[in-house]
Amino acid sequence: MKVCVVGTGYVGLTTGVSLAFLGHDVTCVDLDQAKVDLLSGGRSPIYEPHMDALLADSAERMTFTTDYSAAVPGADVVFIAVQTPSLPDGNPDLQYLRSAAESVGQHIDGEFTVVINKSTVPIGSSNWVDSILRESFERTHERRSDGEFSVASNPEFLRQGAAIQDTLYPDRIVVGSDNPRSLDVLNRLYRTILNQTFTPPTYLPRPAELGAVPMVSTDLASAELIKYAANAFLALKISFANEIGQLAGKVGADISQVTRGIGLDTRIGPRFLQPGIGWGGSCFGKDTAALIATSAEYHHAMPIVTAAREVNQMQRRLVVDRLLDELRILKGRKIGLLGLAFKPNTDDMRDAPALDIARMLIDRGARIRLHDPVAAERFRREQPELAPYLAGEVEEIFDDSDAVVLVTEWSEYLDLDWGKFASLMRTPVVLDGRHCLDPERLVKLGYRYLAVTGR
Ligand code: UDX
Repeated sequence: MKVCVVGTGYVGLTTGVSLAFLGHDVTCVDLDQAKVDLLSGGRSPIYEPHMDALLADSAERMTFTTDYSAAVPGADVVFIAVQTPSLPDGNPDLQYLRSAAESVGQHIDGEFTVVINKSTVPIGSSNWVDSILRESFERTHERRSDGEFSVASNPEFLRQGAAIQDTLYPDRIVVGSDNPRSLDVLNRLYRTILNQTFTPPTYLPRPAELGAVPMVSTDLASAELIKYAANAFLALKISFANEIGQLAGKVGADISQVTRGIGLDTRIGPRFLQPGIGWGGSCFGKDTAALIATSAEYHHAMPIVTAAREVNQMQRRLVVDRLLDELRILKGRKIGLLGLAFKPNTDDMRDAPALDIARMLIDRGARIRLHDPVAAERFRREQPELAPYLAGEVEEIFDDSDAVVLVTEWSEYLDLDWGKFASLMRTPVVLDGRHCLDPERLVKLGYRYLAVTGR
């Protein structure tokens, strides 16, 4: 099929390259010429495992352009995957979506095009996108549209760092539409994923346990709400683990054993109960804020989601509180942070806990050093005011430090020669922000081991 993808961020690029890999002809539009040039040369502007290999494998079926007229006319499916950053009131800023929809509307020219809004947007936005497309189509074509296009909602659930994996081997595909024809187009588009009949890339084998992928077909509003509800539920699961974790610390229980004990109940499940500094990234904070903002418009409160956000902020503050308890004075103390990305295997720092923690420590007069094995260069560009605190080598994080905080659980950090580094520190205090270091081992190596949640 002929596919157009507008926007080559995490979602757009992953969607485009995966569909091209599956045999569709994909044209990606991005207004950023530099990105288009990079991608046309086979290089990815973002760090994502397997992206370069999949780009190479799909190159002959992919085109990158800044020109809508080279991408939209004749497309069976147009994905709009542009950024929707948060506004101060929690609502997403829809200006990029509006202008993308206007451009798509101008260039739609074919028998039938399904337009899918991949950006996460407030419930009801599909109708809004539909009205923009319609206006723009009518203005350009000087006639009313006659069923040439239809808007569908097809939310993605991909995780950064596992984006391609999650696209090729999803738990489910959700499609919201009020037009049976769109449903048919999307069924054909995703057929080989739904049946898992494509030949997997050698570097990303199919998970052994994966059978056929269920398709959940709904009305537009339900599909839009599924996306928000899924992210809010995952966010509150983590915040719940953190809230119990705080209590565990107080009563002398071990939170890791507690989460294992509850997670083995199949009604709860073991995943997303990992306690620690809490969640960050581009989705959970933004989507929970948007959900609360939407519900406020309906005079509806969301106390559970609101509380999940509060617990998450508290976890970041607790890092500073724990250090204060231990060191008594933070002014002048040298504190190293391991990890800047919001989670391992990505260089994304949107809503990364490390940024908040770094600023809080600076406010208290601490001398901080920052390190990340992958995100450092991007950090230097995106956070110029914090860039002077970057360390070149991981040794500098430990050298003469009063404490080291593990903020992001990169495997490089788990495998450090912790014994050697203890001797570099002024006082060998380690605060495990992710509950992923072995306390007994670290204590044997001479560390004072602290956790954000728990003992
Ligand atoms: C998330 C959703 O998983 C995905 O379905 C959606 O499409 C986008 O948002 P992502 O933000 O890429 O994906 O990261 P994810 O792996 O879900 O982790 C989110 C945050 O939760 C990270 O900061 C991670 O460190 C934290 N986390 C996750 C925990 O603190 N504990 C856990 O048990 C799991």
